[in-house]
Amino acid sequence: MGDTGQRDFLTLRDWPTADLLELLFSARALKAAPGEYSRRLDGKALALIFEKPSLRTRVSFEVGVRQLGGFAIHLTAQEINLGKREPIRDVAKNLERMVQGIMIRTFAHAVVEELAREAAIPVINGLTDFTHPCQAMADYLTILETKGDLNNVKIAYIGDGNNVAHSLIFGAARFGAHIAVATPEGYEPDAGVVAWAREHADASGGRIEVVRDPLQAAEAADVLYTDVWTSMGQEAENEKRQRDFAGYQIDDGVTARAKDDYVFMHCLPAHRGEEVSAGVIDSPHSVVFQQAENRLHAQKAVLVALMG
Ligand code: CP
Ligand code: NVA
Repeated sequence: MGDTGQRDFLTLRDWPTADLLELLFSARALKAAPGEYSRRLDGKALALIFEKPSLRTRVSFEVGVRQLGGFAIHLTAQEINLGKREPIRDVAKNLERMVQGIMIRTFAHAVVEELAREAAIPVINGLTDFTHPCQAMADYLTILETKGDLNNVKIAYIGDGNNVAHSLIFGAARFGAHIAVATPEGYEPDAGVVAWAREHADASGGRIEVVRDPLQAAEAADVLYTDVWTSMGQEAENEKRQRDFAGYQIDDGVTARAKDDYVFMHCLPAHRGEEVSAGVIDSPHSVVFQQAENRLHAQKAVLVALMG
């Protein structure tokens, strides 16, 4: 919650398990009946601020808010130049007088936190360098759909321990899942995230492992998950990252360690031949497009909870 008293959606860490489960169940209900709540955000406006590129986040928010009776206004970094053309606080104080919610995709998580503190309207994190909570909600909805459970599920996350991994770790602690994260040296998830998640996993029955060996992580996994080796904003490090992540591709050698009925997940966009082989992402085990669709349903649940 920001200083202004309204509720925001910045990380899964900030929301209690019961409320997150309610969002998941609401998302599942909205998926089953997409016409439900078609007037819930009647006439309400959602500002979408993008300081990085997007396909899924933009389309799912624009379509989602429209399906709920509201509408979106797309704002690019060039247009508002957050913090440079004018201070973040002034952007918040302007937007709160004209729109009823803000979705923001940016670099530093502190920017989203400041916007949430200053704006008297809900702020939704559409990805920062630290977390990607809307993605995690869609991911856990997908796991619930494909595995029928969140508690007795092992997720092997293999790759960069950054934003998507952090949100999956927070989610494992909240939903009681077992997550094993395998990263090369220097790409481990944030120690504070892991410590927080381990502390809270006890209450939910979750388990958080951080290992070096991708095969160890994949052992008996229900879900194999990866993300790009070079995230948005890190393009200058691409060559070094290709070297550092060698051996961390999810390929047939890795899938052989997982359970026979494993599902392959990826937040997308994907780079076939880098973090995942084409054979794996294009196999019947892959649920990446179901995951992408679930962004729409999960975010509609968030929009109803925050703006409805
Ligand atoms: N997964 C995801 O957030 O996709 P976009 O970057 O296309 O929005
Ligand atoms: N880790 C990736 C996720 C993209 C949805 C990035 O930040 O670019």
